[in-house]
Amino acid sequence: MNSAALHAVRGEILHFLADPASHGEAAIEHFADGLLLIRDGHVAEVGPAAELLARLPADVPVTDYRGKLIMPGFVDTHIHYAQTDIIASHGEQLLAWLEKYTFPAEARFADPEHAQAVAEFFCDELLRNGTTTALAFATVHASSVDALFEAALKRRMRMISGKVMMDRHCPDFLRDTAESGYAESKALIERWHGRDRLQYAVTPRFAATSTPEQMTLAGRLYAEHPGLYLQSHVAENQGEVAWVAELYPEARSYLDVYDRFGQLGERSVYAHCIWLDDTDRQRMADTGTAISFCPTSNLFLGSGLFDLDRAREMGLRVGIGTDVGAGTSFSMLQTLNEAYKVLQLKSQKLSAASAFHLATLGGAHSLYLDDRIGNFLPGKEADFVVLAPAATPLLARRMQAAQTLDERLFVLMMLGDDRTVAATHVLGKPAWQRPG
Ligand code: GUN
Ligand code: ZN
Repeated sequence: MNSAALHAVRGEILHFLADPASHGEAAIEHFADGLLLIRDGHVAEVGPAAELLARLPADVPVTDYRGKLIMPGFVDTHIHYAQTDIIASHGEQLLAWLEKYTFPAEARFADPEHAQAVAEFFCDELLRNGTTTALAFATVHASSVDALFEAALKRRMRMISGKVMMDRHCPDFLRDTAESGYAESKALIERWHGRDRLQYAVTPRFAATSTPEQMTLAGRLYAEHPGLYLQSHVAENQGEVAWVAELYPEARSYLDVYDRFGQLGERSVYAHCIWLDDTDRQRMADTGTAISFCPTSNLFLGSGLFDLDRAREMGLRVGIGTDVGAGTSFSMLQTLNEAYKVLQLKSQKLSAASAFHLATLGGAHSLYLDDRIGNFLPGKEADFVVLAPAATPLLARRMQAAQTLDERLFVLMMLGDDRTVAATHVLGKPAWQRPG
């Protein structure tokens, strides 16, 4: 074996080959003492440490993470970087929350220096929480997208983002026009889409804040450029659903509004999807449109309870999103914790394996990135998180009583948070390490 450019990490390793909800134990690959071999930022091989070390040249550097759990980097399929500073804002449901907190916070992104400072903090916070890929909203300002992409590029993170398109029902200072939204998005696509690990998402905020003209142009943009993403919100809050029905009386449902404007399809991702019916779900399944399930946000804004079992029965692609700043944590572990509780209220059971699949390979699949990230199959990009199962006194104590892998994973997702993340590696290299 040619050892040049090879390095390895050793520790307990867990990743998924498929969805444990449908494939059971066969979906899970676990090495109690494993080795992840990396070449040029990509996975060369994964397997039992004893076996791989026996045939590895002696000069290959091995980072020792024994006692810790190595997993693919987390994939956050819905988050707003410009809402970092309004996380934990009290007292409102969606529409009032947008007016009172969100729009004023997003207005500050007219200032590129502010955007740059928040983007730097945001990317670091993602990495501190083990998140290496995100689909993120910027604001209506084109320069806010530049700031986020520049910060992500520096860290070589996988970032998908786009300029918010919003030409009605919002303050003047956040309003674009159908034409300017189209032209500015197009210029950003040319500047950023496909550069290093960055990809562009056409971003109509939601049907209520775009005129039919803007919705038409957003759909056109998405169709014109191969490989583009589209991100938006749908069926989050009952007041919002009623409002959209008034604005688009010809549409069969809220989702149908997006459908009419050509906004469903591969790499199109809708946050929330709580108040859908089966006709909507079938349409999403048929078009390959994905859902981002955002449990902390749905509880925080009192929006409702997402029906994961139904989405799965109907074969939909589902990822998980923090939806910061309506979401209350950057931590995927805490987001899984609340996903479990949302599903309890629906009398549905989220297994720990299924939860961690959602945060890794499931998220990658929902973004059509599972050929590049999401697990440790050879050739994948070597983004991974190193979790410390005994990071806090309570975790250490509770872990002692945990017998099975499943139990340990469940304890991690219920009690873990940013303190549980010992290190995050991007393309094989440490991008964040917990001090001490
Ligand atoms: N719907 C439209 N805009 C937003 C937003 O910023 N956050 C959430 N949670 N829902 C939205
Ligand atoms: Zn959102």
